[in-house]
Amino acid sequence: MAAHMRERWGSGRGFLLATLGSAVGLGNVWRFSYVAGENGGGAFLLVYLVMVFLVGVPLLLGEFALGRSTQRESAAAFETLAPASRWRHLGLLGVIVAGLILAYYAVIAGWVLKYLSLHLMGSTQEFAAAGFANAFRGFIAHPLEPIAWQFTVMALTVAVVTGGVERGIEAVSKLLMPALGLLLLALAIHSVTLPGFWQGVAFLLQPDWRALTRPQVYLAALGQAFFSMGLAMGVMVTYGSYVAPQRRLPRAAVTIAIGDTLFAIVAGLVIFPAVFSFGLDPAQGPALAFVVLPEVFAQMKGGAWVGAAFFVLLAIAALTSAVSLLEVAVAFAMHRFGWSRKRASLGLGALIFVLGVPASLGFGPWAGLTGIGGRGILDVMDFVAANILLPLNGLLIAVFLGWVWRRRDALAACDLPSSRLGRFWYFSVRYTVPLLVAVVLVRSAWTG
Ligand code: PFF
Repeated sequence: MAAHMRERWGSGRGFLLATLGSAVGLGNVWRFSYVAGENGGGAFLLVYLVMVFLVGVPLLLGEFALGRSTQRESAAAFETLAPASRWRHLGLLGVIVAGLILAYYAVIAGWVLKYLSLHLMGSTQEFAAAGFANAFRGFIAHPLEPIAWQFTVMALTVAVVTGGVERGIEAVSKLLMPALGLLLLALAIHSVTLPGFWQGVAFLLQPDWRALTRPQVYLAALGQAFFSMGLAMGVMVTYGSYVAPQRRLPRAAVTIAIGDTLFAIVAGLVIFPAVFSFGLDPAQGPALAFVVLPEVFAQMKGGAWVGAAFFVLLAIAALTSAVSLLEVAVAFAMHRFGWSRKRASLGLGALIFVLGVPASLGFGPWAGLTGIGGRGILDVMDFVAANILLPLNGLLIAVFLGWVWRRRDALAACDLPSSRLGRFWYFSVRYTVPLLVAVVLVRSAWTG
């Protein structure tokens, strides 16, 4: 597609909201809270902040720059910049990882929709009767119901992406992201009234220095930063390719990093006080949002409302992220195969849905199928994508930015003059990011 025909964000605000919509997702609420819970709360947060600014921001800026300077989606961006070298294939990895992540992300987002409907219809009592953990296990083990919810998520995602960059993704983000912010604010204000508020705050904000000696904390923080900021899967390259030349990228990258991080912290300040107020344990792993919190809502005064608000929030967050993942694949197919947007959205949406079905069945009929350390199908997909392919791709992108792209071109594409800021960015992508990420990659391959 010629550059002048390329779809564009209608406004700078639209670009920010759409990108924030991609970054803020299940990762900020569901994943952040349990990863922080498992890794010592405050100590984790501290390391996480360092990772966001040392690794996340430079990579985010670099990805935006790759997209905008080439005006191409992830795969074509690298082909444009390095047509004659092996590096031209790098962008394709992002497209594949995005599809893989979306396949199982939609399964979890489907669980969110199920819990949303339970809270909206006030029918959580049935769940309470069976015990929340049992009820959750029973639901995800069902051969059909979770797949129907997963299908709903994919259908909504396809509908938004079919609408296009400005009239689909941007319009939906402009509508939903402010709602998301308001909901979070309301939940945070409510959280202050809970008896366990200060205990929750202390858990999240008070570092336990001993936790800093555990290497897993660093690995978890880096992995979470990648996942939460939506890095290394072509999303930010693709979204960057719809940005007009006059926009300043460094400010956008910092704004998004701060927004994404704030969102996770405030979500933590909603979740942990609630958990402590009812004497429950925050280190519950992935079940935190689907077992511990529903139990909290069932006991809380006005919990039906709070629960409904919480799952609306989670559903919005998940949808805008799923949209960005599908857009990566759709933009790729439109460019590579010349497909129409509608055809690409429908075709790839269907394919990714089918790819995700085994992830869902892995909790029920196919529970016997395990791999890589006894993990179920969804966990294997998450492990391969988040712990191996994301860091690997992030590492390669950083090497490309710092060693392959000409320094002057890269800095110009990032809107960075050769000032102190420019030198800091260049040093990061050349040394800090590859080194840190390489350590994580080796360690996570090691510990499995
Ligand atoms: N960043 C999203 C989240 O935190 O849930 C998830 C996500 C979006 C992951 C986009 C990857 C991605 F490319």
